[in-house]
Amino acid sequence: MKVGNVVGLVGWRGMVGSVLIDRMIAEGDFDLIEPIFFSTSNAGGRAPAQAKNETKLQDGFDIATLKKCDIIITAQGGDYTTEVYPKLRASGWTGYWIDAAKTLRMNKDSVIVLDPVNRNVIDAALARGVKDYIGGNCTVSCMLMGVGGVFKAGLVEWMNAHTYQAASGGGAANMRELITQYGSLYSEVKDLLDDPKSAILEIDRKITNKQRTFSAAETEHFRGVPLGGNLIPWIDRDNGDGTSLEEWKGGAETNKILGLGADFGSSPEFAAIPIDETCVRVGAMRCHSQSLTFKLKKNVPLADLEAIIANDNAWVKYVPNVREETERHLTPAMVAGSLQIPVGRVRKLAMGPEYLGAFTIGDQLLWGAAEPLRRMLRILLQSPL
Ligand code: HSE
Repeated sequence: MKVGNVVGLVGWRGMVGSVLIDRMIAEGDFDLIEPIFFSTSNAGGRAPAQAKNETKLQDGFDIATLKKCDIIITAQGGDYTTEVYPKLRASGWTGYWIDAAKTLRMNKDSVIVLDPVNRNVIDAALARGVKDYIGGNCTVSCMLMGVGGVFKAGLVEWMNAHTYQAASGGGAANMRELITQYGSLYSEVKDLLDDPKSAILEIDRKITNKQRTFSAAETEHFRGVPLGGNLIPWIDRDNGDGTSLEEWKGGAETNKILGLGADFGSSPEFAAIPIDETCVRVGAMRCHSQSLTFKLKKNVPLADLEAIIANDNAWVKYVPNVREETERHLTPAMVAGSLQIPVGRVRKLAMGPEYLGAFTIGDQLLWGAAEPLRRMLRILLQSPL
């Protein structure tokens, strides 16, 4: 029996949802489905142009209508999932739930979807009747799209990441706040910049003073701290043990995506890989970058490692470890809006031949959020289950 094609879309108007709809249009996904567009604030309004039989927005909280869907994709956020998902399942709905939010991600009965990396885990879950398919943390998904090959080759003893995460990870309002701050900083020193004889230290003093005296409203979305011309080495909740939630996700989600850890088996081949991170917010718009250090299980020639990375999937763009190529191809500004995942700065480190360094960048809204969801939809529509 094939999976039905009535697909409920929730949260399609937000930032991730809009990127999702654009990608679904670009890939012709709407040709394959009967969409029902839901809204949590405008039920009864007009559905977008992709609507077919159902041209009105349905109430995103109406369990009876949600139950008509074979598949639901939501980018509405964690609060929506927390409120609606248990009611929907309690009502007897057995459809497929595809979700961008973290709420269900670490549940034993859910799979984190990133099919170019873990199609085997997804297929095994489909075969045993798993119905919840959740998008991963953006940093983790972008990292694994870049260097998943090294993990899949079984070469990683441990990994340490230092991230450079874009404003978009905080949401649309955070991106606006960043740009507004850049504008205010520029305005503060425009006259001095226009005068080639002005003193740079005077410009610097004014910028620093402005950063320190931004109003509460000007720094509302980054918790009272400026991001323009600054960085913030903490992302998400404080776990109380010296790590942030974002850093914890790096290890927990990477292992779950790869099908490693106690939930997958007790033999050494399923042992979780130790991963630790320092996650940092920087003034980039929508691409998360990360500097990675691997301890390999053995000394593998650099050329072999380069080939493993470059050939892992169709989206990796291997960037030779030289200045020109790095400056040109390995920056957030070059990657924004693209599905390509550049990986560069690949080299053996001074600590020894088993230590590998790499730098990778991914669009946080594409591979980091929307793309794995729409690809999971395709997998379901093509599934013979
Ligand atoms: N938590 C991520 C960030 C985004 O703040 O950058 C969501 O995966």
